[in-house]
Amino acid sequence: MASGTLDNLPKDLRNEIEHLERLFTVDGAKLKEVTNHFVHELEKGLSVQGGSIPMNPTWVMSFPDGNETGTYLALDMGGTNLRVCQVTLTETKSEFDIIQSKYRMPEELKTGDAEELWEYIADCLMQFIETHHGDPTKLDALPLGFTFSYPATQNYIDEGILQRWTKGFDIAGVEGHNVVPMFEAALQRRGVPIKLTALINDTTGTLIASAYTDPKMRIGCIFGTGCNAAYMENCGSIPKLAHMNLPPDMPMAINCEWGAFDNEHKVLPRTPYDVIIDKDSPRPGQQSFEKMVAGLYLGEIFRLVLVDLHDNQEIKIFPGQDIAKLRKAYSLDSSFLSLIEEDPFENLSETFELFQTKLGLTPTGPELELIRRTAELIGTRAARLSACGVAAISKKKGYKECHVGADGSVFNKYPNFKARGAQALREILDWPEKADPKEDDPIEILAAEDGSGVGAALIAALTMQRIKQGNMHGILHPENFRTTEPLPA
Ligand code: GLC
Repeated sequence: MASGTLDNLPKDLRNEIEHLERLFTVDGAKLKEVTNHFVHELEKGLSVQGGSIPMNPTWVMSFPDGNETGTYLALDMGGTNLRVCQVTLTETKSEFDIIQSKYRMPEELKTGDAEELWEYIADCLMQFIETHHGDPTKLDALPLGFTFSYPATQNYIDEGILQRWTKGFDIAGVEGHNVVPMFEAALQRRGVPIKLTALINDTTGTLIASAYTDPKMRIGCIFGTGCNAAYMENCGSIPKLAHMNLPPDMPMAINCEWGAFDNEHKVLPRTPYDVIIDKDSPRPGQQSFEKMVAGLYLGEIFRLVLVDLHDNQEIKIFPGQDIAKLRKAYSLDSSFLSLIEEDPFENLSETFELFQTKLGLTPTGPELELIRRTAELIGTRAARLSACGVAAISKKKGYKECHVGADGSVFNKYPNFKARGAQALREILDWPEKADPKEDDPIEILAAEDGSGVGAALIAALTMQRIKQGNMHGILHPENFRTTEPLPA
């Protein structure tokens, strides 16, 4: 294969790289501008008038202290997989056992029919119960925390009115409706012995699960197929809940749904590629921030750049080659970019092979350089912009030092995402250079505990606890909690 280095890049290709660098680089000053606007928008979301960021109260009203116990079921309906877990919070402080089964979420379900979605979920749950508990007809209803990771209005913890589908889902008849009765009806039709106790967002689960083992945790984040965060607010700072007369110092976890940040396009440095992603998505005008930073979109942004460089720009990459495979929308996911960024070889031979096998393309050495730089630019922009959200919550809450629990495929698997995010936080918050490289950052984004499993179990436990103590706020069906004892640990 041809090998290329930046030195022998043809001039037009180098110009093209410089052009992409201008489009995708977000400098420290811009990060600060984005963060300041973000703080303002978080506040707006909590106001009566509201804003783009939903800032949904979740009725999760305390942190765990590590002494929670019991066994709970948890169902996680994320963007890619469906997971059923049985979580035991053990008598030993901050410890847990978990058994789980994963089911692939069939692609066609994401844009199919609501009935089919609920039936599929009920089937997976039934399978899990039969495997782990035996004959379902002989069982009392088991308590379940349902991690439903989409924006939902919750007047109660056991309710979730879907505001809109995100992450490419588009199933008619669900938006604007409470998903709990739909879910329960499917369980009933199938005879699945389960009682939903709480509907949870993955970010809230992540926050609570991480706080179970680390008292410095203040924010839970997902950097995965979608991108979002939750943190603990005090009720007195949530004007849209003022009518409920909750004690001002009572805690309330807020699911920010920050993917919707800057839907008005006031501050984010969007490129023409971001505009196309939005226009061609099932919900144009929604999730502006998410579409620039989340895993579902990173590969697609990259693909759009390459197609453009083949079709439209002065330089034609892959001249004379058939780019039919590259033309297929959403054919490259963020793991494709990860592989490019991870290619350890000077001549990018792994990237070359990837393009041959996956796309049937034979890039030249200089084209490989351009491919690598493009991946770096997209991955770096995602990490740096994501950090603005973390910085914004920290600023809003006055957190100078804390831990942030993070989960999701991009955080866990995308090369350099953590280091790039940490560097961006440093620039935004003006931290001095470290004296010793081993020193911890004041605000650290750390790998979280399993939010949609352990977090869901903890939220079920905390909710039962607070009901026992007489805090009945935000509970639609207290009878479910009264009659539902957790399974013995
Ligand atoms: C999307 C969803 C949000 C979820 C996030 C991460 O942004 O709207 O609810 O937390 O993805 O999964």
